[in-house]
Amino acid sequence: MFYRADRPHGLRHNPFNAIVVPRPIGWISTVDAEGRANLAPYSFFNGVAYTPPQVMFSSTSAHVHGGGLKDTVANARETGEFVVNICTWTLREAMNATSAPAPHDVDEFALAGLTAEPSELVRAPRVKESPIHLECRLVTVVDLPTSNPEQPNTAVFGEVVGIHIDDAVIVDGLVDYHKVQPIGRLGYMDYVLVDNVFAMQRPGWP
Ligand SMILES: Cc1cc2nc3c(=O)[nH]c(=O)nc-3n(C[C@H](O)[C@H](O)[C@H](O)COP(=O)(O)O)c2cc1C
Repeated sequence: MFYRADRPHGLRHNPFNAIVVPRPIGWISTVDAEGRANLAPYSFFNGVAYTPPQVMFSSTSAHVHGGGLKDTVANARETGEFVVNICTWTLREAMNATSAPAPHDVDEFALAGLTAEPSELVRAPRVKESPIHLECRLVTVVDLPTSNPEQPNTAVFGEVVGIHIDDAVIVDGLVDYHKVQPIGRLGYMDYVLVDNVFAMQRPGWP
């Protein structure tokens, strides 16, 4: 099949999210200007540069409470900081709970029964239960095109200034995926668990 992306696809659900897979989940913690904590998952998330290390996440559609930017984007913009917590198999239900469209004054750490642990370099706390955290400082915010101005698409880029890795998931100097057990997002209501890993050497050029 072929369909123009601005025309109906005729399928049961929009296939876009099922095509760009798997997507890592950036479980983003922030604080607002008053220091109130917020936590939410974003699967439009990825690493985008090595030196210095940089990541991005993107908020799509309006927040159901009052419209406008989602809390994570508003907070990152306001404070210039955020933390990426790596979401694992054992934390999947808690991660999902933090995606609830909760009002701004609700602390999703408490909502999901998670422990907020202070960060080293930024004010946003970390999810203590997660084995890996990336402390980030805002680099830039990009307003992306949207077909509905009420539902902004906003990409947030940050520089990773501090990295926490639980020593228990480091084996022979490598982060062991089988110990971390990261999960990723597929389309529809589907997720993937990283448990089937293979290696390939890159080709050289004479
Ligand atoms: C696994 C998962 C991935 C998500 N990815 C995104 C995303 O990439 N962009 C987005 O805008 N919302 C995404 N959401 C929905 C947000 O988490 C949800 O709108 C949340 O209420 C936003 O919270 P906040 O306003 O505190 O930032 C995702 C939800 C789940 C469960």
